[in-house]
Amino acid sequence: MIKSRKLSYLFLVVIVLGISFLAGCGPSDKTIAAVQPAASIPDGELDPAVWGKAFPNHYASYLKNNEGGMTEYGGSDKVSKYKKEPLLPELYKGYGFAKEYNEDRGHTYALQDVREIKRVGPTTTGSCMTCKSPAVPGLIDKMGLQYYSAPFSEISKATNHSIACADCHDNKTMALKVTRPAFVKAMAARGVDVNKASRQEMRSYVCGQCHVEYYFKKDTKEVTFPWDKGFSPDDIEKYYKEIDFSDWEHPDSKAKMLKAQHPEFEMWSTGTHGTAGVACADCHMPYQKVGKNKISSHQWTSPLKTLEQSCGACHRNGTDWLQQRVNFTQKKTFDLLLQAEKASDSAHKAVNKAVYTPGADRQLVKQAQELVVQGQWRWDFVAAENSTGFHNPALALETLGKSIDSSRQAELLANKAVGKKK
Ligand code: HEC
Ligand code: HEC
Ligand code: HEC
Ligand code: HEC
Repeated sequence: MIKSRKLSYLFLVVIVLGISFLAGCGPSDKTIAAVQPAASIPDGELDPAVWGKAFPNHYASYLKNNEGGMTEYGGSDKVSKYKKEPLLPELYKGYGFAKEYNEDRGHTYALQDVREIKRVGPTTTGSCMTCKSPAVPGLIDKMGLQYYSAPFSEISKATNHSIACADCHDNKTMALKVTRPAFVKAMAARGVDVNKASRQEMRSYVCGQCHVEYYFKKDTKEVTFPWDKGFSPDDIEKYYKEIDFSDWEHPDSKAKMLKAQHPEFEMWSTGTHGTAGVACADCHMPYQKVGKNKISSHQWTSPLKTLEQSCGACHRNGTDWLQQRVNFTQKKTFDLLLQAEKASDSAHKAVNKAVYTPGADRQLVKQAQELVVQGQWRWDFVAAENSTGFHNPALALETLGKSIDSSRQAELLANKAVGKKK
């Protein structure tokens, strides 16, 4: 009897220790910080200031998305990507991204930035608003598929707020909520029912509805995620090939190009942290103290600005070590990225010469053009992913290695095509 009581006591101690260990490190299913709303939030309310009346600390944290400040490779100021990657306008020649392309910044600027960007013109469709404003889910409910193909100018008039509370939360329960149909559909096609997701999964899914690779369906312009074959650059390329999709034709190489968007969710999903169950919110929304309360930070920005809070719960080696590890990965990635862009540029130029050389071997030119697309797609995937390799260092470097190989092969074949002309 006494023995068994001792045993159950021991058992309890083990459980308690186990729980506190789990809470201290590793992806935890942390209990929601108990915050009682100070007011109720009306159905359909989109204005974050009104939600802010119920949750003033969260609103104050959200407003900090207006703050700027750069890190070595990321950050929150509106700076042109051409500054550090001067070949980009050449590589995107003939496409909108050759007109203007900036580093991403805070959620509170999303609406202003999409309205001001030079890539938007008279033929731009509503689909471009999809990840910029909480008004979008309501517009999709009202207009159906018509929303996506409506003129951007019309959709822009129906929108007053940049990304806000209603994009991720239910107004009654404050539970996390995926509000964009494209994510729900793409996950369903992969056999995942988003409505049955765990709380820890939702802490990434709400981000995955926007921080992803996507394309517009040919006729309807519906925003669609190309995930049927998987999340890797190779899988997504296969998908695009199968549906014969391309974004534009490069005027030099005449190759039918693909442009990558911001595949953070895809890269993260097979990285060290993604596979260990560490959510986007674990690093990008660390807990912080506000007076007596503990809240999840609602300033979505570079975790390098908050290494202690963002990483310290799991990593005990100190912030200097963390900073060095991140810098190491990012520098290796960025240096190789510049080499891959150079190789891609040489490929476009060699193929250009072959295209305009009478009598050049057309079969070889065609093969070279395909390799140009494969090379550019891969460095672009890494460049458009906003962590400069950190979310998945091994995949980023593999992708850049393959990119350089394809581009140099394209160059060799193009030269061979010209050499064979006699
Ligand atoms: C283990 C921590 C961690 C996880 C998990 C994580 N990130 Fe990151 N993220 C980082 C770091 C570190 C950077 C690099 C920041 C820099 O360069 O200043 C970054 C960069 C970014 C950036 C660019 C920030 C900038 O300053 O321009 C975005 C956007 C982003 N992550 C989104 C996501 C999304 C979406 C997810 C989930 C799918 C995610 N992250 C998961 C740590 C993380
Ligand atoms: C981009 C998505 C996103 C947006 C936008 C957003 N939140 Fe959150 N919010 C989250 C996530 C993720 C959590 C963590 C939830 C969890 O751990 O279950 C959270 C948690 C909360 C919580 C629970 C307590 C806490 O701190 O963990 C409250 C309250 C809250 N948010 C209020 C707001 C308010 C008010 C706004 C608008 C001013 C807002 N949120 C905008 C994603 C978002
Ligand atoms: C409704 C779409 C949407 C959702 C949901 C969303 N984001 Fe974003 N996010 C954006 C857009 C658009 C930008 C770029 C805004 C700009 O540059 O004007 C951005 C920018 C960012 C940045 C860069 C900020 C900086 O300082 O450089 C980070 C980090 C980020 N998001 C993380 C997250 C995380 C983490 C989540 C989930 C908790 C999330 N986002 C959910 C659309 C979204
Ligand atoms: C919720 C827990 C958790 C958080 C938060 C977290 N990590 Fe990790 N991290 C892990 C786990 C788990 C591993 C896998 C190795 C291990 O088991 O220690 C890992 C591995 C790493 C590695 C080595 C592998 C690689 O991909 O290079 C680095 C570097 C790293 N983390 C940096 C960071 C940084 C920087 C942050 C904050 C921005 C962070 N981590 C936040 C849990 C976490």
